[in-house]
Amino acid sequence: MNKTLLITGGASGIGAATARLAATRGYRIAINYRSRDAQAKKVVADIEAKGGKAIALPGDMAKEADVLAMFDQTERALGPVTHLVNSAGTNGRRGRVDEYDAEVLQKLFAVNVIGLMLCCREAAKRMSTKHGGKGGAIVNVSSMAATLGGRLGSSAYAASKGAVDAFTKGFARECAAEGIRVNSLRPGMVLTEMTEGRLKDATFRTSIEKSIPMGRIGKSDEIAEAVLWLLSDESSFITGAMLDAAGGGYII
Ligand SMILES: NC(=O)c1ccc[n+]([C@@H]2O[C@H](COP(=O)([O-])OP(=O)(O)OC[C@H]3O[C@@H](n4cnc5c(N)ncnc54)[C@H](OP(=O)(O)O)[C@@H]3O)[C@@H](O)[C@H]2O)c1
Repeated sequence: MNKTLLITGGASGIGAATARLAATRGYRIAINYRSRDAQAKKVVADIEAKGGKAIALPGDMAKEADVLAMFDQTERALGPVTHLVNSAGTNGRRGRVDEYDAEVLQKLFAVNVIGLMLCCREAAKRMSTKHGGKGGAIVNVSSMAATLGGRLGSSAYAASKGAVDAFTKGFARECAAEGIRVNSLRPGMVLTEMTEGRLKDATFRTSIEKSIPMGRIGKSDEIAEAVLWLLSDESSFITGAMLDAAGGGYII
């Protein structure tokens, strides 16, 4: 079967690492990006240089029209979407509950939750055997923040990822008999463009490392390996699961 993998937020971090790894495993890759045009082109060029097939599609996952266009463009260029990774995400503005801003919360949930759900809707319409599809596999990139409400100041982000996990479980059960597997992957602290600014602070980094049983920050490549496993037939009896890739979790 031809494997076409669509990755949202695929120009950087976990999404880009997943794209590069998946291309070496026979997937044709479509990466979505919002603002990182040069980075997206670099991921595509790197994949093509190794003989893979990839395209980059601009689009804001907080906009339904962009989600619809992304699926249509992927299908036209690469054929039916058989696999989806929702990696696009933002940590919004850090702050305690008494500092919340309604507009910031809406933007956070528009990307991390509603955009992700709309991508899953479009995938379900195409993959479900009920709609004439041939099935497929989806990984939603959640976060360990969902488990404990996040580190202090990250409760809003944690809530958005908690929603991702709850939705993933429900979606999995709705479509389990229609050939679709969908799972959540919960990274712990990983060095990416989302976290590198804060991790440059040595004191902060040390405190984070001390809170992780393995005593270190994760790498995007390690998360990509776990994502690829959940996408693959090696995890064929797994759906609605939350897989923690977090060095043993964290203590707060
Ligand atoms: N790094 C960690 O420690 C960690 C831990 C747990 C979970 N995660 C999750 O892992 C996922 C990937 O994050 P990352 O760590 O790889 O950071 P990253 O490099 O910042 O990747 C996030 C990507 O999402 C894109 N994005 C954000 N909003 C978007 C939108 N509306 N439409 C399309 N793309 C959008 C960003 O592009 P633009 O900047 O151009 O918008 C960026 O390329 C996120 O869902 C994040 O919450 C990360």
